[in-house]
Amino acid sequence: MSATPVAIASDHAGVALKGVLVTELRALGHEVLDLGTHGTDSVDYPDFGHALAETIVAGRAERGVLVCGTGIGISIAANRHAGVRAAVCHDVTSARLAREHNDANVLALGARLIGDEVAKECLRVFLATAFPGGRHTGRVAKLG
Ligand code: RB5
Repeated sequence: MSATPVAIASDHAGVALKGVLVTELRALGHEVLDLGTHGTDSVDYPDFGHALAETIVAGRAERGVLVCGTGIGISIAANRHAGVRAAVCHDVTSARLAREHNDANVLALGARLIGDEVAKECLRVFLATAFPGGRHTGRVAKLG
């Protein structure tokens, strides 16, 4: 992993799980760049997906974590930015394969779909798994 912080953002549906993941990231020794939201007032998930994507594209963070109700809407927003590969993961296997096959740089999680422990395990595996390159390199390049 790089020395850059791990960026994290959520909407109101994901804010509680975001808090759990911020604690986990710090326990793992990562600096955290928390882009909000910071409360349970209703917000629009694209605003936070875009903000995190801009942070990745600008190089202020190498990896990011997004949380909304499903992980879907906020990942769609992030994936509109060239260079961002956000993967919605519901289990450890999808988190590992998102790194190994897709070189995903953003983990998207659905707070209404998975529990805290699964989310933390997804996070740990996502951050610990290297992209092996090889046959996957050209395919990832075609993602643009
Ligand atoms: C918010 O109610 C919900 O729509 C949002 O968190 C997310 O699930 C959208 O994809």
